[in-house]
Amino acid sequence: MERLDRVLSGQNIATRSESKKLALKGKLMVNGKITKRSDIRVDPENDEIFVDGVRLVYKKHLYIMMNKPAGIISASRDKNEQTVIDLLPKEMRRDGMFPAGRLDKDTTGLILLTDDGELSHRMLSPKKHVYKLYSVECDKKLTGDDVRLFAEGITSGEIVFLSAALKITGDNTALVEICEGKFHQIKKMFHAIGAEVTSLCRLRIGGVYLDKELKPGQWRELTQEEINLITDSTIKDL
Ligand code: URA
Repeated sequence: MERLDRVLSGQNIATRSESKKLALKGKLMVNGKITKRSDIRVDPENDEIFVDGVRLVYKKHLYIMMNKPAGIISASRDKNEQTVIDLLPKEMRRDGMFPAGRLDKDTTGLILLTDDGELSHRMLSPKKHVYKLYSVECDKKLTGDDVRLFAEGITSGEIVFLSAALKITGDNTALVEICEGKFHQIKKMFHAIGAEVTSLCRLRIGGVYLDKELKPGQWRELTQEEINLITDSTIKDL
């Protein structure tokens, strides 16, 4: 059981003082009864709660996929730059929302936004080896040798990357599948084979694919099936 005003503020529906005012105006209803107090205890998962005539659809956590545009940073908030969270409407910008797995400012494609720290931890855990698929364009003609080097495991300075699948799709374009999430990983791997990445887009995390209907900057909530597939470490395309 949780205080009603805390439930409403947690769901980004009303601040605690707004809830108090709504209650005094008779605009809060729990299980068919108007409550003049906003601090009563409710069971948000099972009680029927109406706020100003609108049924509360309680969601413990939010899970959102966004097609991240270039030029936006993967952070919760930033003093100077626009973040992926800034692109969400107010009701989705709950406290604690963050991008689970970062993309560089110039990288586009699939980014997951959630307030579920536990799920994010499972998805990002290096031990879990969740595969991510990227589409890459670079400034060099790719060859079978590069495919072999990726498969053997690239070394960049002190960093050793695990074996990764590279599938050449054009002279200087490829799909790459990695099961780690090291800082600037794809760019560093390409740099190590003498190429610079000119365009990078993430297409899949675990079993969740970027929805092709989403234009850059657009988002949608994940389906329950997709939520279950985020941490699936068995799904591979290459
Ligand atoms: N690898 C990179 O180099 N950059 C990204 O944004 C993601 C993976």
